[in-house]
Amino acid sequence: MSVRRADLRQTRRDFIQTALLAPSVLSILGNSLCFAEDIKPGVTEPSVEETLAAIKAMNATSASNVTPERLAACDTIQRSVDRLRASEFGEYFKSDAETAKKWEEERGVLRFLNASFDKVLTEIRETKVAEGRVALWQVYNMGYLVKTPTQTFAVDIKHRRAPELAPLVDFLLVTHKHSDHYTNEFCDAVAAAGKPVVSNFIDNEWKTPVEGREYKFGDCRIKTQLVDHNANLVKFVSAYEIDCGPKSGTCVIFHVGDACNVDQIKSTAPVDVFIPHLAVGLDVPKAVNTTLCPKVTLLSHILELGHLIDRWRWSYEYGFNVCKKCANDSVLLPVWGEKYEFRR
Ligand SMILES: [Fe+2]
Ligand SMILES: [Fe+2]
Repeated sequence: MSVRRADLRQTRRDFIQTALLAPSVLSILGNSLCFAEDIKPGVTEPSVEETLAAIKAMNATSASNVTPERLAACDTIQRSVDRLRASEFGEYFKSDAETAKKWEEERGVLRFLNASFDKVLTEIRETKVAEGRVALWQVYNMGYLVKTPTQTFAVDIKHRRAPELAPLVDFLLVTHKHSDHYTNEFCDAVAAAGKPVVSNFIDNEWKTPVEGREYKFGDCRIKTQLVDHNANLVKFVSAYEIDCGPKSGTCVIFHVGDACNVDQIKSTAPVDVFIPHLAVGLDVPKAVNTTLCPKVTLLSHILELGHLIDRWRWSYEYGFNVCKKCANDSVLLPVWGEKYEFRR
């Protein structure tokens, strides 16, 4: 009997630990048990023509120059976001190419997500990065592809087509074990190509221990520290300080994943490109204006479609308001597929 009770206690502990490690599990439970996920009333799905016009406007404008056309395009895509349930995104995400195409034809936001990926694939192949520069592409959520004059790498990529990037990258960094920051398929594809996959949870030779670690891939030098995601998930997120090497003009990218505490994210060198979560509790204005003072900030983690419509799925409007709060012209809100070029 006592053995059974002990087993039960262990099972309960395992369940709680798993639940804490995977908010997506809570989301699924929430979806089915507690929270009815309703699409926003009165919101209509944009037509194909409206979506195509929005994508064109997104590509013709930039995060550094937010025009009325770009704002209108954001509104169009947001309408589609506000009608796509997390469960529907989950179905789309695991669907085969033929089924995914149907979803993309019917849902403007998925058409945009797929078109953005095509744009990134084309541009990363065609872009030659000059000395003293680094090109970054926003893929989805906190996912970025980075091309320096000598290396190409990825951070926190989640996309149903992510494995297509495996031949193009030299290494992959993953900030933490939440399903909006990685996929097993992409990690496996990069590893199968014989390239490093760095994380704090995958058991391979690149795993980051709790005290942090340094890496060198080509001429990129990476320092990693583990920081808190929230009060329960302490030392759960790897914040990556990436020196992109002398040919890049020693551009330093500081990608901090879902780090929540501004006093924990410390860089050892001046930060050129800062990539934070805009709504996890991190004091972004303080980091931007007082502690890190980066040359540019790429606010990330909007439109996480795996989250419920009204729960942690931050909108373009929310993002623009965080930009305003920072009161600093160097704080940008890039959209999917957008390329940002850092110049020394
Ligand atoms: Fe997270
Ligand atoms: Fe996240």
